[in-house]
Amino acid sequence: MAGGDKYSVLLPTYNERENLPIIIWLLCKYLGESNLEYEIIVIDDGSPDGTLEVAKQLQEVYGQDKIVLRPRAKKLGLGTAYIHGIKHATGNFVIIMDADLSHHPKFIPEFIKKQKEGNFDLVSGTRYTGDGGVYGWDLKRKIISRTANYLTQILLRPGASDLTGSFRLFRKEALQNIVKACVSKGYVFQMEIIIRARQFGYTIGEVPIKFVDRVYGESKLGGSEVIGFAKGLLYLFATT
Ligand code: GDD
Ligand code: MN
Repeated sequence: MAGGDKYSVLLPTYNERENLPIIIWLLCKYLGESNLEYEIIVIDDGSPDGTLEVAKQLQEVYGQDKIVLRPRAKKLGLGTAYIHGIKHATGNFVIIMDADLSHHPKFIPEFIKKQKEGNFDLVSGTRYTGDGGVYGWDLKRKIISRTANYLTQILLRPGASDLTGSFRLFRKEALQNIVKACVSKGYVFQMEIIIRARQFGYTIGEVPIKFVDRVYGESKLGGSEVIGFAKGLLYLFATT
């Protein structure tokens, strides 16, 4: 345990039955090997595929101190899943990531190292600098992501290279303040986090990550999320 720090990993799940055992095994491996104090908070939104039952079995295997279950009755969206998770986080740092193996836990020790180097309030995984990248997406999805980042860069000048990514490490207090200020609910929430962080004057470090598209299950990103992003971007442009 490094200097009394504890890391709370927030893992929102919706129909991730196949992915959950692997992601939790990898998390315990990489966090355990680094001798970190940690907990994994699974926020399942009533997945019809039985994700919560799998999570309960994993809790038996790894222990209640490591796997914390904070389910909700129905699918209420990614943004509010984080807000719900933070309330139960006991660490002084919080990591948010996807449960579908697109975000590899091997990057977490790099996030932590980066945070310590610059004493950053936030460390953001980035697909758009250095060794970062996206693997397995079709052209359409790549264009959507690039366009969302590009438009936001132009309109809001946020000072971070990956705005829509969601693999990040925060000082818990910073994340609490940021989410209190956030107005958006859907995928645009990730972008708003960076904008609000800047408003508060929080410092941001970046770590290049490789995002690998999911093998099991499907993405919940659809046309309505794209429209939601555009609306949210314009709202932030008009108000910040
Ligand atoms: N609890 C809960 N509730 N979890 C959810 C919900 C929800 O309503 N919607 C999605 N999730 C979970 C998924 O189970 C997964 O663990 C994670 O949130 C990401 O969902 P995906 O559906 O896999 O997202 P994606 O791959 O299309 O998008 C990812 O990349 C985008 C950047 O390009 C996410 O990381 C986005 O946040 C990100 O903007
Ligand atoms: Mn995904």
